[in-house]
Amino acid sequence: MSLLIKNGRVITAVDDYHADVFIDGETVTMIGRNLDVQADQVIDAAGKLVIPGGIDPHTHFDMPFGGTTSADDFESGTLAAAFGGTTTIVDFAIQTKGKSTLEGLETWHAKAEGKCAIDYGFHMIVTDMPPERLGEMGRLADEGLTSYKLFMAYPGVLYSDDATIFRAMRQAGDDGTMICMHAENGIVIDEIIKRAIAEGKTEPKWHALTRPTRMEAEGVNRALAIAEVANVPVYIVHLSSHDALEEVRRGRDRGVHAFAETCPQYLFLDQSFYERPDFEGAKYVMTPALREKWNQESLWRGLQLGDLQTIATDHCPFCFTGQKELGREDFTKIPNGAPGVENRMALIYNGGVGGKRISLNKFVELTSTNAAKTFGMFPKKGTIAVGSDADIVIFDPNRKETISVKNPHTHHMKVDFSTYEGFEVVGYPDVTISRGKVIIENNTYKGKKGDGRFIKRARYNNLLRATSADLAALK
Ligand code: URP
Ligand code: ZN
Ligand code: ZN
Repeated sequence: MSLLIKNGRVITAVDDYHADVFIDGETVTMIGRNLDVQADQVIDAAGKLVIPGGIDPHTHFDMPFGGTTSADDFESGTLAAAFGGTTTIVDFAIQTKGKSTLEGLETWHAKAEGKCAIDYGFHMIVTDMPPERLGEMGRLADEGLTSYKLFMAYPGVLYSDDATIFRAMRQAGDDGTMICMHAENGIVIDEIIKRAIAEGKTEPKWHALTRPTRMEAEGVNRALAIAEVANVPVYIVHLSSHDALEEVRRGRDRGVHAFAETCPQYLFLDQSFYERPDFEGAKYVMTPALREKWNQESLWRGLQLGDLQTIATDHCPFCFTGQKELGREDFTKIPNGAPGVENRMALIYNGGVGGKRISLNKFVELTSTNAAKTFGMFPKKGTIAVGSDADIVIFDPNRKETISVKNPHTHHMKVDFSTYEGFEVVGYPDVTISRGKVIIENNTYKGKKGDGRFIKRARYNNLLRATSADLAALK
């Protein structure tokens, strides 16, 4: 099958020009003005942007957490991602404490295989890593998992102590892989929470009030210091606050290879959402918590200046009815996380490009290219170039939508509320193409379950990013 996208404005992290894009099979094979070529299918993209498909490097599909399981599985989650203009996700597989990470990988392959609408990869959540099992990390890299998440939060659940973090970082350095860090001082936070509960402070707002930004900043500072001594890169996930960003900046200024992502919820929502009546605040219980509004402009500045390189969703949906409600009497029992995988591209375009905070090139860089580079997928993913996978979105910069659980154009996630209910956006993905196949067009899914493939990701090479040669060498 061949596909010709005509007359569009092609935007990558560095390009901005009008051209036709020809796709033969799964990859882009020609880009040029007025291409004189026959194609099985032709799409006229006049007046539209032709951008690399979004890459969301932080999702939790079918994830057991907080005594329940996240509401989207790999089928509904990747379908919703596709409707929202995302063509690749990287989800978090979980190691059961005391067991092999390779077992965890098998479990996550079983959850995803044959279900996905778009391509997918896995990071591995490491819950323990004694010295005798460090070799597993290299084996995971051979399987295409070149990044791991460790938690400084959630003591007794996912938490790793500093010795484990240092050991895993050293090994990652030797293997050319990346540690992703949930940076919050969970030990101190748990003490604050115990006091709050003892004082009868049980409403959702106490989730935020017991997780001070200084404890996120402390986690970031410690993660960067340990990475510095281990002489390895580190990636801070879901950074939410000015204080934490300052620590990233300080570390980068002294030469730490620190990367960081933020998420739409920290750019568009704030702590006041916890005050919503009738327990509605529970919808926004996520970790880190939503912050005071003034933090948002600091995060935008971090994106503009390059101290934050990616925008992921941390999509971790729990229904209000039956799941969030588990914590009606005690906020610590509200499962942590919120949906968003479908909304990221439109929100960032509207608030970023539309809000005159970032350029079109920066939009692509933050939502696609940098994730591909950081996680060993570039230039196969994250750009539009000859030889790259034809993961492309035709984005209408003028299309208006109101994000709502009731809007069939904006809500395909299997969760009974929208984090961004009522948000009006200008700019929306019209057509989503995954490896050359049109999978979303006219608000309709045209693909089939299982079209999405597992992506083996490449390793770092002496702190340099993987290249097309590294990707080609993957079997
Ligand atoms: O609240 C969140 N973020 N839930 C998902 C788990 C995590 O820490 O990323
Ligand atoms: Zn986390
Ligand atoms: Zn997460």
